[in-house]
Amino acid sequence: MNIFNILFSSLIFSFILFHSNALNVTHDSRSIIIDGNHRIILSGSIHYPRSTAPMWPDLIRKAKEGGLDAVETYVFWNAHEPAHRQYDFSGNLDLIRFLKTIQDQGLYAILRIGPYTCAEWNYGGFPVWLHNIPGVSLRTKNDVFMNEMKNFTTLIVDMVKKEKLFASQGGNIILAQVENEYGNVMEPYGDDGKSYINWCAQMADSLDIGVPWIMCQQAAPPKPMLETCNGWYCDEYKPKDPNTPKMWTENWTGWFKSWGGADPLRTAEDLSYSVARFFQKGGTLQNYYMYHGGTNFGRTSGGPYITTTYDYNAPLDEYGNLNQPKWGHLKQLHDVLHSIEYTLTNGDVRNEKLSNLVMATIYQTKEKSSCFLSNTNTKTDANVNFGGINYFVPAWSISILLDCREEAYNTAKVSAQTSSMVKKLNKAEDEPRSLKWTWRPELIESTSIQGRGDVSVNKIVDQKDMANDASDYLWYMTSIDVAKDDPMLNGTVTLRVNDSGHVLHAFFNGEYIGSQWSKYGDSNVTYVFERNIKLSPGKNLISLLSVTLGFKNYGPMFDLVGAGITSPIELVLSKNVIKDLSSNKWTYKVGLNGISNKFFNTNCASKSSSKWVSDPIPVDRNFTWYKTTFKAPLGNKPVVADLLGLGKGMAWVNGHSLGRYWPSYIADKNLCKTETCDYRGRYSDSKCVSKCGEPTQRWYHVPRSFLKDGENTLVLFEEFGGNPSYVQFQTVEIGSICINTHEGKEVKLSCQDRPISKIKFASFGSPQGVCGSFDKSEYDSEVDVLSILEKECVGKESCSFKITEDKFGKPSCEIKKLAVEAICKDFTF
Ligand code: GAL
Repeated sequence: MNIFNILFSSLIFSFILFHSNALNVTHDSRSIIIDGNHRIILSGSIHYPRSTAPMWPDLIRKAKEGGLDAVETYVFWNAHEPAHRQYDFSGNLDLIRFLKTIQDQGLYAILRIGPYTCAEWNYGGFPVWLHNIPGVSLRTKNDVFMNEMKNFTTLIVDMVKKEKLFASQGGNIILAQVENEYGNVMEPYGDDGKSYINWCAQMADSLDIGVPWIMCQQAAPPKPMLETCNGWYCDEYKPKDPNTPKMWTENWTGWFKSWGGADPLRTAEDLSYSVARFFQKGGTLQNYYMYHGGTNFGRTSGGPYITTTYDYNAPLDEYGNLNQPKWGHLKQLHDVLHSIEYTLTNGDVRNEKLSNLVMATIYQTKEKSSCFLSNTNTKTDANVNFGGINYFVPAWSISILLDCREEAYNTAKVSAQTSSMVKKLNKAEDEPRSLKWTWRPELIESTSIQGRGDVSVNKIVDQKDMANDASDYLWYMTSIDVAKDDPMLNGTVTLRVNDSGHVLHAFFNGEYIGSQWSKYGDSNVTYVFERNIKLSPGKNLISLLSVTLGFKNYGPMFDLVGAGITSPIELVLSKNVIKDLSSNKWTYKVGLNGISNKFFNTNCASKSSSKWVSDPIPVDRNFTWYKTTFKAPLGNKPVVADLLGLGKGMAWVNGHSLGRYWPSYIADKNLCKTETCDYRGRYSDSKCVSKCGEPTQRWYHVPRSFLKDGENTLVLFEEFGGNPSYVQFQTVEIGSICINTHEGKEVKLSCQDRPISKIKFASFGSPQGVCGSFDKSEYDSEVDVLSILEKECVGKESCSFKITEDKFGKPSCEIKKLAVEAICKDFTF
């Protein structure tokens, strides 16, 4: 039976099992054991609220096709319980539907309930109302908190049990997680932290789910919790308890992106290296964080300062397209690992040193053997003889040998195609060239800057405490009475505002006097805003609009980190003459007029709909609402809104929030240190980054299910000022594809569901350059490789072949590679 038959029958087997019998999930020191079988589990994170329910089947199908056994997700408390004891499991929050979609495809699920998640999610998944309950203390021994945590965890477990989704009930959930990386932050919580984590374990255990509970980054957790590792590499990791198998709950496939930050890239070579190395060194379960990152719709991103895209450079891109070559290169690895699962989990293991930092690991059962050859040098390639056969093991790579003879995979030899994704207009025929806009101002003049608010107190209040996360926007307003003889009337007075993030707009006596915002990077969220003002005798009005971009999600006591304006707020005449306004009467108002009145909601005929005006459309005007209608781009490809030209704000399509936008925030030029990206050596989030000096995020995902036939509406709230006339809707498709790989490999070129229209470059030998700029070398074969491939591939959606000398001629070099660049239909380059 070949690998595919084995995989196919095991999937059919699991499909039948998931819908009938209970599975017994246990472990020994070597591996997770499912129904008596030692297993290698390959899993990937897909967070259900970061896509839409109609996208789930396709994402999960691609995960399965990519060779995964399981899909992992967190559960997002603040999304499900937006107000105390009010729950929401609708739409893309339908956790049960998500789990059942995974089950229907015959995959296992790993449920990380937390309910603290981190995850670059607003406030790490905690509802802000929780922080505002008197007497609460989060993530520590505190009855108020523990009671709420238990209430939510039990609710989730009960929902899942009711649907019989735990493997012990015949479902597909094989593991569940409580808390998240508490071990990383536990120390500052002292003894209360220890009591809390013990309580978490007891509480979880008492819920009796019949499958193991895990705690990630928690060395020697209270029994029966099992510890796991998170990071870019976990090969060196050893669980503290010798009876716990080696599990890796987060292999970061790239990284998240922050406003002002560059685009992360973790190469397919390095990611596959980390996985192969983990299994070489005794791993049993590995989960990609993220397999599909998706989108932070609405106000769900935390951090703070995390972009709306959560693409993560994952194997499936933000829109659900295959991110190639990563997806394909990992698929090949998964297939090979599954084919040697038995020897890996049942065999005896020994290592053999072959040369400096080159090692063979041999897994041996009575019947069979499987080997890994690792070269952990960061620069030196290795030619080694192992078992009488010569192998070329490039630097920072691992080969997997079937029967310890046949090289089935090498992490640095990528044969999967590279796909270059492009944006395309695809306009409906009757759609005009540019969008027609109407607009209306945000009514700050008549309300907030007149000092009218909802609550007044004699102090400066943290934004979390005052706004309870109802909005990004909070007005802080006060008036000062200046006596005729006040010396401040005669000099230059500076208004000084301390801000702990993220954006501040200041108004004085009804006039806008300026804005300031945090720079990229977590440590820089605090700043001081200073502007000179001219006081008048009598009443003077200060109105400050504070804007947050998600609350902090990580670190010891992260929940207590301040947000919004902080004390003191001062009027400064000179070093010695400073008026502290902090204990003035401050009036607060949460939100904006247009948001409260749902200007973005196109369903209800808003009574104020007549107030949208056409011509002239203002440009570079802050606090402005824009509205347009459009037809959905043709076809079924993912849709994006190109928001180039806009400043910062929020966008809605047919009332669905696309998230925060900020294309005017240019990614720091200095973040891209080198032009080339070397996969060799340890990855970090500053390595291989790109798109410095460009808008941090220009394109915003508009899921197809947000769109309808006929007319759709886009509403923008522009906070900084911008020009909407450049806005357009596009589709994301494959433009061109490349391969650049070694002789002997079976390769496939595919434009997915469109034909290949042209072979732009093809040569066999030692071709130079990279995809998009290949060049022949003097050693290349004389054969007209381009014509061969034109005949074989053009006009077809895909073509597959093996790279051999018989087919492509005899180059005059030792290591022979084929480089091809092909163009997909409807694209010209
Ligand atoms: C981990 C955390 C994840 C995510 C990740 C970075 O520490 O557990 O939830 O935040 O870092 O993407």
